[in-house]
Amino acid sequence: MCGIVGYIGFRNAVPMILDGLTRLEYRGYDSAGLAVQTSQTLSMRKATGQVSELRKLITKDPVSGQVGLGHTRWATHGPPTDINSHPHFGGERDVVIVHNGVIENYEQLKSQLETLGYRFYSQTDTEVVAHLIAYHLQEQQKSGAPWPHKRTAINAVELTLAKLKGTYGLGIVFRDLPDSLLAARVGSPLVIGLGEGENFIASDATPLAGHISKVVYLSDHELAFLTPEGVEISHRDNGRQDLSIQSLDQVSAEVDKGHHEHFMLKEIYEQPMTVENAMRGRLDEDEATAVFGGLNLDPQQLRKIDRIVLTACGTSWHAGLVGEYLLEEFARIPTEVEYASELRYRNPPMGRNTMLFAITQSGETADTLAAMRETQRKGHSSLAICNVVGSTIAREADGGIYLHAGTEVGVASTKAFTSQVTVLTLLALYLGRMRHMSHPAGQKMINSLQQMPEQIADTLKCFDQVKDIAQKYYDFNNFLYLGRLYNFPVALEGALKLKEISYIHAEGYPAAEMKHGPIALVEERTPSVFVVPRGGIYPKVISNLEEIKARKGPVIAIACKGDDRVKRLADHVIEVPDVEEYLQPLVTSIPLQLLAYQIAVLRGCEVDRPRNLAKSVTVE
Ligand code: AGP
Repeated sequence: MCGIVGYIGFRNAVPMILDGLTRLEYRGYDSAGLAVQTSQTLSMRKATGQVSELRKLITKDPVSGQVGLGHTRWATHGPPTDINSHPHFGGERDVVIVHNGVIENYEQLKSQLETLGYRFYSQTDTEVVAHLIAYHLQEQQKSGAPWPHKRTAINAVELTLAKLKGTYGLGIVFRDLPDSLLAARVGSPLVIGLGEGENFIASDATPLAGHISKVVYLSDHELAFLTPEGVEISHRDNGRQDLSIQSLDQVSAEVDKGHHEHFMLKEIYEQPMTVENAMRGRLDEDEATAVFGGLNLDPQQLRKIDRIVLTACGTSWHAGLVGEYLLEEFARIPTEVEYASELRYRNPPMGRNTMLFAITQSGETADTLAAMRETQRKGHSSLAICNVVGSTIAREADGGIYLHAGTEVGVASTKAFTSQVTVLTLLALYLGRMRHMSHPAGQKMINSLQQMPEQIADTLKCFDQVKDIAQKYYDFNNFLYLGRLYNFPVALEGALKLKEISYIHAEGYPAAEMKHGPIALVEERTPSVFVVPRGGIYPKVISNLEEIKARKGPVIAIACKGDDRVKRLADHVIEVPDVEEYLQPLVTSIPLQLLAYQIAVLRGCEVDRPRNLAKSVTVE
């Protein structure tokens, strides 16, 4: 969840690291720090709060060097304080490290090190790793290993890693080993950027864009040794590895908000384009089906699928719920949606022809990755529906479909959701056409899908109206979100958006479930957001809406254009285009994203950096 950036080369590392950390800030933002190697010393600067605080500190108290490590933190062990911020020193400032992940056996290691006389200043698990490296370095020196020496440094790190339980992406610099930087990973992503006379490490490729064009993604149990001139990678069990060099996808001139006040708003407005990108080149009008380049399965294998499991977390899990409805309706394949955090430890029976899809924006979510690995271990093919090219899940899946939504920086996922829903619709079309769906039905679906970018653009016009509604309700403390069928996941997603960025308590329910408990919450200060576009069970949702009105609950309805019935009943109506029922989530989710956004802004919340959250959840 934390952001790591490291530099080794001929330039001053400090501005490179500060810029990199700013680009990575969406990964964690409760404190930041950096360390640089200068002649015979390691200098460190750390500050609680955002990277801008660290910048201010460095302006007041400058530091420079051509080898350095930076970190932006999402606290796991110990609150966000200067002391707990990374980097952390080991030994007598012999080594400095930054860490992303969680060391599960840190308490045991800490007490062993304390017995040996090591003093701890922070409450972090990371400081244990730093001291342990320093300890092994000292032990090796005692037994005659040469120092400073590359092999001795690598040995000290390898001996340390062998003792760690948990996950880590580590950047390591030794005080006395000039022009060297080490990196290692298990479970937490690290990418190495290859330049001319300079090299980089980072927790994702975002900070590397514009500096280099070639990258190597580190795999679990690999250790990299970087100098300005080159990079060597070794694997714990397989020794020296050839560099698998990939070109850096242009992740990121996009890390800029354009004319928008927040990344989240920019990303909401990108949706007509991102939905179009998700479909680009994937619609075959002649065959009335979808086409995918990366599934790596032939039609014969795909026809054999008799059950699908979709696994994901958070917003991606909500997209999975929409996917369940789509796949069952159009492909007639029994589908289940599992929280990845549960699936990884459950042991549900899975037949030979069960196919797993891991849905993830980042491709780094620890639970989703673990659920996918667990399923693969049992011999099932696992495919990814993923946004970030080169991410761990994208690389480890047997095949998959990219969203092509571009970098999503806002912690609250918006455009990834609509892209995931679009891709799942294409998947339902593809699998449906292999089985029961007729050519005309496929064509009709394609025609409707092609209209979606325009329908989304049309929906976005509700911005000002949503702003007025937000003005009325932004200081309320509880919201209910209600919808049925395809709009039940939309209700869950709307509630999640509001919770995560405005800190208002919000619950999403299938509208008819209200009567079984939640209706007890309804009163004048509990607004219900009803997602009630026209469709098969529209009259039933209207009855649910009436039940709320009868109890004096304010109602904000998301309804189809010109729906006078809803207008008469609801306190506010936000109109969306009348689209096919199975495509409604692509339009009904938009006003809910905007509502959460406007309310958060009015409450003075940090929209792109909500408290306690981070963009990609790489710890369990
Ligand atoms: C969405 O707004 C959240 N911030 C979060 O629920 C997110 O969707 C979840 O952590 C899964 O992330 P992923 O799609 O990158 O796997």
